[in-house]
Amino acid sequence: MSGNKESDGGWKNFLWNSDKKEFLGRTGGSWCKITLFYVIFYGCLAGIFIGTIQAMLLTLSDYKPTYQDRVAPPGLSHTPRSDKSEIAFNKSDETTYMKYIESMKTFLEQYNDDPQKDELKFENCGDSPQTYKDRNSLESDVGQRKACRFLRSWLDACSGESDPNFGFKEGKPCLIVKLNRIVNFRPKAPDNESLPEGLQGKATPNLIPIHCKNKREEDKDKIGEIKYFGLGKGFPLQYYPYYGKRLHPQYLQPLVAIQFTNLTLNEELRIECKVYGGNIDYSEKDRYQGRFDVKFTIKS
Ligand SMILES: *[C@@H]1O[C@H](CO)[C@@H](O)[C@H](O)[C@H]1NC(C)=O
Ligand SMILES: *[C@@H]1O[C@H](CO)[C@@H](O)[C@H](O)[C@H]1NC(C)=O
Ligand SMILES: *[C@@H]1O[C@H](CO)[C@@H](O)[C@H](O)[C@H]1NC(C)=O
Repeated sequence: MSGNKESDGGWKNFLWNSDKKEFLGRTGGSWCKITLFYVIFYGCLAGIFIGTIQAMLLTLSDYKPTYQDRVAPPGLSHTPRSDKSEIAFNKSDETTYMKYIESMKTFLEQYNDDPQKDELKFENCGDSPQTYKDRNSLESDVGQRKACRFLRSWLDACSGESDPNFGFKEGKPCLIVKLNRIVNFRPKAPDNESLPEGLQGKATPNLIPIHCKNKREEDKDKIGEIKYFGLGKGFPLQYYPYYGKRLHPQYLQPLVAIQFTNLTLNEELRIECKVYGGNIDYSEKDRYQGRFDVKFTIKS
């Protein structure tokens, strides 16, 4: 194409046509108009875009999720957590259970007395299960809410205070369980009718109980005694509702510690733990919704 005089001249002419005073085929006035048109056009587009986003943001609350598809029931999580929910160790060999103990120690640090000292951020909510602790609505302008103290010592033999090995050394391992946080969720205490065999007649007002048992029928006589520690041996309702990370930054979930004091050694045992409440149910799909199971293998 280059080297052709005519097309070369045409190209230059197109760039700047001195006869018609046109630049790239348009006069200065025409360029001004078209520039102005596009500035206004894109300006309006940007305005509509920003406007709709702002309008959407106005409908959102800073404190409460607009869509809570997981409102109830909450998941359960436990410490130590392990691959394939299997806890296997040799009680005579410290190195095999060190990792479990370490994870429990780390987890419980936030429940020490020291970080809960501040009277402006924490309060005592009683040492027996009580009803929900209302701290005004999410939208009210009270600002940050106090959190209920949860004393590590309530976990007794599983607090790590009297026994720094959390029972692992004696083959009596502890698990620490919590209900996952859900903003504005109020678990309901169960009534006696909805409780399983092991808990029949033991429904306590203002308490979400937890109960563990053998998952497989053949393990029935191998699980032994199970002890529960914590405030009321369950999840007391005065720790609810939770007001979210922003309004409730110091919030501590109530804990339950479970100690298996007489597990049969050198066998694989499957145990299932469930919480019971009026608005807690279980899902086939989610193995941690309102329950969990764990496999113990303790060697001697
Ligand atoms: C458990 O550890 C002890 C001490 O290290 C060892 O003698 C024993 O054989 C181990 N048991 C098993 C089943 O591996
Ligand atoms: C369940 O039964 C026990 C014993 O009969 C009773 O003390 C308790 O108040 C009952 N709880 C409820 C929620 O009905
Ligand atoms: C532990 O369990 C065994 C059976 O597995 C039983 O014989 C024994 O009495 C139990 N020990 C205690 C302290 O409950």
